[in-house]
Amino acid sequence: MASTDFSRLPGFRDFVPEDMGVRTHLFEAWRRVAGRYGFREYDGPPLEPLELYVEKSGEEIVGQLYAFTDRGDRAVAMRPEMTPSLARILGERSRGMPKPIRWFSVPQLFRYERQQRGRLREHFQWNVDIVGEAGVAADAEVLAVALDGLRELGLGPEDVRARVSDRRLLAALMRAAGVAEDRLLAAYSVVDKIEREGRDKSRERLQAEAGLDAAAADAIVGLFDAPGLDAVRERFGDREEVAEALDRFSEYLETLDALGLGAFVDFDLTIVRGLAYYTGIVFEVFDARGELRAVCGGGRYDRLLELVGGEPLPAVGFGMGDVVLTELLRDLDRLPDTSRSVDWFVVVIGDELRPRALDVARRLRARGESVAYALRRQAVRKQFKAAESEGARRVLVLAPDEAARGEAVVRDMESGHEETVSLATFVEG
Ligand code: HAM
Repeated sequence: MASTDFSRLPGFRDFVPEDMGVRTHLFEAWRRVAGRYGFREYDGPPLEPLELYVEKSGEEIVGQLYAFTDRGDRAVAMRPEMTPSLARILGERSRGMPKPIRWFSVPQLFRYERQQRGRLREHFQWNVDIVGEAGVAADAEVLAVALDGLRELGLGPEDVRARVSDRRLLAALMRAAGVAEDRLLAAYSVVDKIEREGRDKSRERLQAEAGLDAAAADAIVGLFDAPGLDAVRERFGDREEVAEALDRFSEYLETLDALGLGAFVDFDLTIVRGLAYYTGIVFEVFDARGELRAVCGGGRYDRLLELVGGEPLPAVGFGMGDVVLTELLRDLDRLPDTSRSVDWFVVVIGDELRPRALDVARRLRARGESVAYALRRQAVRKQFKAAESEGARRVLVLAPDEAARGEAVVRDMESGHEETVSLATFVEG
C-alpha cells in the first residue's frame, strides 16, 4: 500500500491546546498592555503585492519571501513583516485622521529562513507603532510598551535588556570617520554584525564593502572600544551633528527613566537593525544571559509612509516575536500551567438521573462555570478517572438515594474532601 507523508512543513507549528494556551497567554498580555497605552488593534491581509517588500524591507527579508504568481498573474508574497502593510494601509487612509495614530496588531508572518533555534518559517509578532509624531517622547513610549509587555509576562530587568542606539548618531560618527554618504548602508550592515563576526573581519568588510581606507576602517572599529555615551561625547562631541544626536539621545534616555524603565536599558552602538527603512533611534530586546536571539526589535522609520505613496508622516514602532519569547519564558519557568481543567465534572449513577445531571450542568454553565460529564453510560470508577483527566476541580455525584432526598455529594478533587449538598442550591443558583 502506498503511504502518503502528510507531515507538517519544516518551520511551521501545530498548536495543540497546551501550546494554544501559551499563545493565548502571550496575546492576552500584549493586548492588555497595548490597551493601557491607548493603542487600538488593526489587521491586514496575509497576502500582499510582492512589490510592497522589494526595496522597502531590505535584501535580507526579500531573500526569504514566500512569493509566487497568483492565478490572475499578480506577483504576490505572504507578509514577512507588518510594517510595510501598516504603511500601505495608512498611506490610503491617514489623511484626516487625528495624529498621532497609535495602532497595534498581532499578525502571523512568514519568512523562508534557515531553521535554527528561535527561528521558524512562521511566527506571530506583536506590532506596536506610533505614526505622526517625530519627537523622542514617541520613541520612548513604544519602547515602554514593549518593556511593559515583557513585565506583564513576569520578566524584569534581570531577565531582559533593551539595547538602544540611534542611526543618526552612528551616521554622524561614520561621517566623522570619513564614510561616504552612499556607503553608509553598507557600513551599517557591517556594524550590525560586528559582535558576531569580530573586529578583524569587520575591518576587512568595511574596506571591501564600504569603500573605506584602512585608517577610516580602524577609526570605525575603534568606536566600539569605549562605546559608552560619555566616551562618544568626549571624542566626537565637538562635531555639531554628533552633539545634536547625543542631546536627542539623552532626552530619550531621560524619558525612559521618568517612565520607570531606565533599569532595562543599555546604550549599544552596535544595534543598527537589519531592515532598510530605519532612520533614527533603533532598539532590540534580548534575554539578559545573551543566549537567545532578539525577542523584539524596532525603531524610527520616518520615510516609509511617503515611500509607499502616503502622507509624509514620521513613525516609530517595534515587532516582538512569540517564538523567542516563549523559549525564554520556558527556560525561566514563567509559563502558566496550560493543562486542561474544568470547574466541575458531573458523575451520574444510573440512567434515570441523566436528565437531572444535564439540568445541573446547564445551570452551572449558565452561571459561567465549566462543566463536563461522560457522554455515555459508564461505571463510576471510569467517570472519576475521566474527571481526573479533564482536570476537574470538583466532582458532583448524582446517586439515586441522595437524589431522592434532593441531595448530591460534592468532592473537592485536590483535598479529597467530600460534602453533601442540597441540589436546590444548583437549581436556584
Ligand atoms: P524584525 O527584527 O525583523 O523586525 O522582527 C522582530 C522580532 O520578530 C524579532 O526580534 C524576533 O523575535 C521575531 N522574528 C523575526 N523573524 C522571525 C522568525 N523567522 N522566527 C521567529 N521569530 C522571528 C520587524 O519585523 C519590524 N517590522 C518590526 C517593526 C515594527 N519595526 C517598526 N515597527
